[in-house]
Amino acid sequence: MPDNELLELEIPQFEKVKSGKVREVFDMGESYLFVASDRVSAFDVVLPNGIPRKGEVLTQISHFWFDRFENDIPNHRIKDGLPEDLAHLAPRSMVVKKAKPLAIECIVRGYITGSGWKEYLKQGTVCDIPLPEGLLESAELEEPLFTPSTKADEGHDENISFEKAVDIVGQETAEKVRDLSLKIYTEARNYARERGIIIADTKFEFGELDGELILIDEVLTPDSSRFWPLDEYEPGRGQFSFDKQYVRDYLETLDWDKTPPGPALPADLVERSQARYLEAYERLTGQAL
Ligand SMILES: Nc1ncnc2c1ncn2[C@@H]1O[C@H](COP(=O)(O)OP(=O)(O)O)[C@@H](O)[C@H]1O
Ligand SMILES: [Mg+2]
Repeated sequence: MPDNELLELEIPQFEKVKSGKVREVFDMGESYLFVASDRVSAFDVVLPNGIPRKGEVLTQISHFWFDRFENDIPNHRIKDGLPEDLAHLAPRSMVVKKAKPLAIECIVRGYITGSGWKEYLKQGTVCDIPLPEGLLESAELEEPLFTPSTKADEGHDENISFEKAVDIVGQETAEKVRDLSLKIYTEARNYARERGIIIADTKFEFGELDGELILIDEVLTPDSSRFWPLDEYEPGRGQFSFDKQYVRDYLETLDWDKTPPGPALPADLVERSQARYLEAYERLTGQAL
């Protein structure tokens, strides 16, 4: 398979219904086919070359967590749903049940960083939730926070209060997804930390199928979460990104204004980044990919 096929993926027999930054979604009739490409985005720009096997790593990390939390909540996966002629895409693919996504995104924050840190500096809150004084940047929060957002089709998602989430999805559903998000995040965080990875925050999506709530989308991957290396963790500053640090550091050395098109990544950087993705998978699962 030519390398660029993993950046620009077409499957002639199925209609592509969405092309995200990283994944392609195909309509298989009864189900959707998610294929994770090797595309990499940095500073919100998709770069011209990818990281071979990255899509495989992302998909397999999601599989790992879906397996682990299957008893807590049913999920959208259809195992063995891939047509035989697409077997070469199996490692990076997930066939899923078509669900109706809830109109909120379920964000959990275990550490104070990013936009949360900026808001805290300004007014002592994260998503309007008051926090104790004197927290350092990247500090672990005493309790993880559930901070839902709207799911905007276009433009940026907007943080909303829990009450607003109740208005959108109803009291019962809002409480259910809050409790599930916090439980799954907390278990995953504790598990990953023992293996040298801090999952600082993450985003879950839930959907409805036949009147039942299910976990959809990708789960606890470096694309839907912030992964930090535990051995370099130090509150009081921004943290290194487990998977994207080399890419970001390299881009910062260039005279690039962070608008498309982005610069190509040199081969040695691609290699080092790939090693980082594979390492994330190995640390989490205890197995080589
Ligand atoms: N089982 C499912 N049924 C229907 N929609 C889903 C399912 N799983 C995920 N989705 C939706 O598919 C979309 C995937 O987009 P994604 O590849 O993440 O692109 P983006 O770069 O915009 O995040 C999301 O809007 C998500 O809500
Ligand atoms: Mg997404």
